[in-house]
Amino acid sequence: MYNLLKGKKGIIFGALDENSIAWKVAERAHEEGATFVLTNAPIAMRMGKIKELATKTNAEIVPADATSESDLQNLVEKSMEILGGKIDFVLHSIGMSVNVRKGIPYPEQKYNFTEKGWDVSALSFHKVMSALYKNKAMNEWGSIVALSYMAAQRVFPDYNDMADNKAYLESIARSFGYFFGRDFKVRVNTISQSPTPTTAGQGVKGFDGFLKYADEMSPLGNATALECADYTISLFSDLTKKVTLQNLFHDGGFSNMGVSEAIMEKFM
Ligand SMILES: NC(=O)c1ccc[n+]([C@@H]2O[C@H](COP(=O)([O-])OP(=O)(O)OC[C@H]3O[C@@H](n4cnc5c(N)ncnc54)[C@H](O)[C@@H]3O)[C@@H](O)[C@H]2O)c1
Repeated sequence: MYNLLKGKKGIIFGALDENSIAWKVAERAHEEGATFVLTNAPIAMRMGKIKELATKTNAEIVPADATSESDLQNLVEKSMEILGGKIDFVLHSIGMSVNVRKGIPYPEQKYNFTEKGWDVSALSFHKVMSALYKNKAMNEWGSIVALSYMAAQRVFPDYNDMADNKAYLESIARSFGYFFGRDFKVRVNTISQSPTPTTAGQGVKGFDGFLKYADEMSPLGNATALECADYTISLFSDLTKKVTLQNLFHDGGFSNMGVSEAIMEKFM
């Protein structure tokens, strides 16, 4: 370990169980010397194992539904109290589509479900940053990261309305990132991660086949949740101070591939 986050304070959204990307980020942030508050939707508190993670990482838990402005206001206030000052890093690791969950194909999506998924997966990032911005909660040279997926740029039919949510999420990172940079010298980025076997990932139809396909397409293979956590730690550290307004692909090279020999062999 390198003490990359020594003395830094953070808020980590989205650790549900040990497969969650946010879970790995919390473990790695702890190892690198950070202190942080863990948060998740109240329902996930009951279903998930977040208490186990909190014990392991000496973190406190503050529940918040990321679509609720009052929950987020409370979270930001409580976090500053608990951590004894302003925040250095924030991870938004939240995604959910009701259309995906119910297996409704993209052309037939139910718009009330679409609106719910958009609020949870995309607009929540604006609401989180708005709460931080209004409360002047971020330290100078702080870092805010959200997790995205390449369906924001390319077509993956079964990713459904989550593709549109990710495009919106990435746009929010750029738009709000400007104001955070200008006013607080805080950077805002999204990481576009490989398919990863987590609760949210496995909810997508045909996930296992797709995971293999992406792995064989990528010269370095799929990036794991732990590797994603390592990359996230680098973005929270002082080694990446001038990286902002970016969508950063962390996918073993998948996003720039046309075809690989491993995939071609299957068609010869
Ligand atoms: N797994 C993949 O293949 C993959 C690939 C690229 C990007 N991502 C993104 O990574 C992020 C984390 O997902 P994951 O794969 O670790 O799955 P996960 O299921 O472990 O995490 C998703 C989290 O979102 C939380 N959440 C849902 N509704 C919420 C709400 N209203 N308020 C607060 N939290 C809420 C859940 O409780 C859960 O902890 C998501 O943004 C996801 O889209 C995942």
